[in-house]
Formats: sequence, structure tokens, C-alpha cells
Amino acid sequence: MAVVRAEGLVKTFGEGRAARRVLDGASLSVAAGEVVAVVGRSGTGKSTLLHLIGGLDRPEAGSIVVDGVQVTGAGERALSRLRRRRVGFVFQFFHLLPELTGEANVLLAGRVRHARPDAAARGQELIDRLGLRAVAGSLPSQLSGGEQQRFAIARALVNDPAVLLADEPTGNLDVHAGAEVLQLLRAGADEGRAVVMVTHEASAASIADRVLRLERGRLVDA
Ligand SMILES: Nc1ncnc2c1ncn2[C@@H]1O[C@H](COP(=O)(O)OP(=O)(O)O)[C@@H](O)[C@H]1O
Ligand SMILES: [Mg+2]
Repeated sequence: MAVVRAEGLVKTFGEGRAARRVLDGASLSVAAGEVVAVVGRSGTGKSTLLHLIGGLDRPEAGSIVVDGVQVTGAGERALSRLRRRRVGFVFQFFHLLPELTGEANVLLAGRVRHARPDAAARGQELIDRLGLRAVAGSLPSQLSGGEQQRFAIARALVNDPAVLLADEPTGNLDVHAGAEVLQLLRAGADEGRAVVMVTHEASAASIADRVLRLERGRLVDA
């Protein structure tokens, strides 16, 4: 059963002669337990695709269902609930709050409206499991890139989402830290999540079950 089902997505930026149709009929289906890597040149719309799936932005046409919830057509409150409960985001530049410790970044995501009741306990367990206990009290500026990304993954998992969306998650890491992050994403899928990972690195695609290429606004087998 597909956890992510996107069909016929269309997204245009700009207006009039400057209009650029970035997605033009993109379709994607991802099952529980599956990692799909999306590759493609810079500017082809990979980040845009993740934003649409995760309810951060809306397509002009097409439909998206995530974990049984119709994303397209959902109101702002429903989208907010979707983002917090069913979707975890991981970004290239980590996006941790700089004034909070790694641990506090993880726990904050479990304290927002619509968070899971057991999020704090999950957060502590994730900090242990991801090998972050010794640096839990450090600020992001005191952490290596790999540690920051592991905290970001713990944050993404704290509400036990059905879907993980990772946008070039290893793009700012050395080979070793990148490999660790890829294994964590793979483990996230093995626990039954659908993982969509945007990457331009062949090594990242190596943990994927399928690799798709975004080309002229559509996803094709790579
Ligand atoms: N919010 C936005 N406003 C205007 N143009 C945008 C916006 N987001 C993305 N774009 C444009 O859409 C195209 C695809 O962007 P993006 O999805 O970030 O590509 P990728 O992640 O594949 O590099 C680019 O030309 C980019 O400039
Ligand atoms: Mg991008």
C-alpha cells in the first residue's frame, strides 16, 4: 500500500513571460518500508516536489495523498497537523534552532500542538539510539555536521511520522558522516516508513530501493 501517492503534479513559478513550469505532470508512489531516491540537475524542481508532498506548498494541479490524508485541497490547519504528525523533514543545512541545544531541538518538535503524547520519551530514546547522548547539551555551533544532521533526524522522527522527506541530507557532510546519515534513513524506512530522498550523489542512491530522475517536470526511472 502506498504511503505517498502523488499524481499529475503541476507547479509553476513566476507569471506571464517569466513563468516557469517546474513540475509538469510529476507522479510518484512510495510504499511503507521503501526508500525512493530522486535525482536530477540543480533547478529541476526536486525541492519543490518535497515541499508539495510535505504540505509546505501547494500544486496548481494533481493530487497528493500522504498516509491516507488528502493533502491537496486540505485547509491550513489540516496541513499543519499533517506536517507535524505524519511527515518528518530533513534538510541539507540541518535547520536546527541555533540558540537551543541538540536535545532541546529534538524535544521542541515533540511539544508543539498536534505532537504525539509520547514524543518526549521517543526523543530521549532517539538521542540514545543515534549516539547523541554525550553531546545532547551542546549547541548546534559546537557540533559537527554529522552530529547536527543526526539531531535533525531525531527531530524528524520524534512524532513517529509515516513519511520522511530528506532534501540532499548528505550534501554538506563528509563521506563518513554522510554514510551514517544514509543508514539512519534506511533504518527509518525499515521500521515501516516511506522515505523520499533528494540527492545528486550516487552513494546516496545506493541505499535506495528505487532511483527516479526528475526531468522536464516529470519523474522517470533513472
Ligand atoms: N518560491 C519560489 N519562487 C520562485 N521560484 C522558485 C521558488 N522555489 C523554486 N523556484 C524555482 O523553481 C525551480 C526549481 O527549484 P527547486 O525545486 O529548488 O530545484 P532543485 O531542488 O531541483 O534544485 C528553480 O528555477 C527555482 O528558482
Ligand atoms: Mg533543491
